[in-house]
Amino acid sequence: MSRKAKVVFACRECGHNAPKWLGRCPACGAWNSFVEEVDAGSIKPSRRAMLNTPSRPQKISEVTATGTTRMATGIGELDRVLGGGLVPGSAILLSGDPGIGKSTLTLQAAQRFAEAEQRPVLYVTGEESAEQVKLRAERLSCLSGHLYVVAETNLDAIRNHVRDLAPALCIVDSIQTMYDQELPSAPGSVGQVRECAAGIIMQAKSSGMPVVIVGHVTKEGTVAGPRTLEHMVDTVLNFEGEKFQAYRLLRASKNRFGGTGELGVFEMRQEGLVEVENASRIFLDEYDNSRSGCAILPAAEGTRVLLVEVQALVSPSPMQSPRRRFTGLDQNRAHMLLAVLERRAGIRLSQLEVYLNVVGGVMVEEPAADLAACFAVASSANEVKLPPATVFLGEVGLAGEIRTVSQMQARLDEAAKLGFTQAVVPRLRGENIRAPAGFKLVQLGNLREGLERFYLVEG
Ligand SMILES: Nc1ncnc2c1ncn2[C@@H]1O[C@H](COP(=O)(O)OP(=O)(O)OP(=O)(O)O)[C@@H](O)[C@H]1O
Ligand SMILES: [Mg+2]
Repeated sequence: MSRKAKVVFACRECGHNAPKWLGRCPACGAWNSFVEEVDAGSIKPSRRAMLNTPSRPQKISEVTATGTTRMATGIGELDRVLGGGLVPGSAILLSGDPGIGKSTLTLQAAQRFAEAEQRPVLYVTGEESAEQVKLRAERLSCLSGHLYVVAETNLDAIRNHVRDLAPALCIVDSIQTMYDQELPSAPGSVGQVRECAAGIIMQAKSSGMPVVIVGHVTKEGTVAGPRTLEHMVDTVLNFEGEKFQAYRLLRASKNRFGGTGELGVFEMRQEGLVEVENASRIFLDEYDNSRSGCAILPAAEGTRVLLVEVQALVSPSPMQSPRRRFTGLDQNRAHMLLAVLERRAGIRLSQLEVYLNVVGGVMVEEPAADLAACFAVASSANEVKLPPATVFLGEVGLAGEIRTVSQMQARLDEAAKLGFTQAVVPRLRGENIRAPAGFKLVQLGNLREGLERFYLVEG
């Protein structure tokens, strides 16, 4: 017999509860973020009781900790992003766009882990039938005798399966399809997602079984459901990739057991996700340094750094007013850069057509792209190629001065990770920037000085 559930309103962003609907959350300031839900605290005494084990404050020096043991999943790129493997009892949230390959990655990890551990691994699917998962498993050769699959969305049933099977790892695909029968709201709602995640995580913590929870992302790119979901888990992994066609990038945006700077790179093939060990290959395959007019930029998109190629083509124009076409860059900024090149660096462009393009359909609107665009144009105008394995990074001002950009260290680290060995950057003025090992920084005060240095304008 269920007790009468108490209805509260909860903020989708921070989880703050209020007895009535509010237009603005008093805790986090988000607008229109309140949704109605059932106060799970009022109806879940049985599960909450699990937490009520007597506790006792202890001196931190006297706490016995056995150290964090790690269990490799067998997928090197995944282990690297996790910080060395799965930590017992940890909860990992894997998020990504529809169709990016979340189920593929988790199924492959489940297979490898089951084989390595020789213990059961449970794959709970709420989106597909067991038959559909089997078809995928056949294609991916994931048919380990230790790999179990169950099509289930009821939280209590899942918890029972986990208890009975005692798997070494549990995958929940996806949290938005799971529901707790004691909550009247629909699967995917704030309360359901939070309670189902809490129920699964609590079981993982108490049994020492790691759990990987798959989560969908919203159009804005955040994990669907409450923001609190990200606080509840130990690690948040993001699987990204549409811009690289077959390539998929795995990053940690939160990790309680390791850093968040690691990048895992995979290639999606017919037989599944294949690890790309030398990530620089993605880029260097297509990047041809024997051409003039190509400059590489480590672009930052949020917390993510992508290396993109900025290409320029400068050619004589038969027309009175030569054409300028810019793709992937801010139009006004690109016009400004051409004016700066002409006036401050002495590159004559007024009678020439100029085309600028960011390869791969990527849109780069940040000013950090200025230097790469300027070098690409100067390189094409002079038909002088740019130095090999070099990235360009810096904002160019109207006086031709080069200004510093955000996330410099992360961009340099990413460039080094992808095989580049030199960066042309703004002059460092006390910023705490370390050149990665074996990496050379060419610091510039202004654009003309930089172009002279690489023989793109006469000194
Ligand atoms: N037969 C196939 N051959 C090659 N690649 C395939 C094949 N079937 C699927 N794929 C690839 O796998 C991707 C879908 O992978 P997966 O189902 O793991 O994604 P997902 O992130 O779990 O999607 P969803 O959000 O729908 O659950 C497809 O976009 C495609 O790239
Ligand atoms: Mg899926």
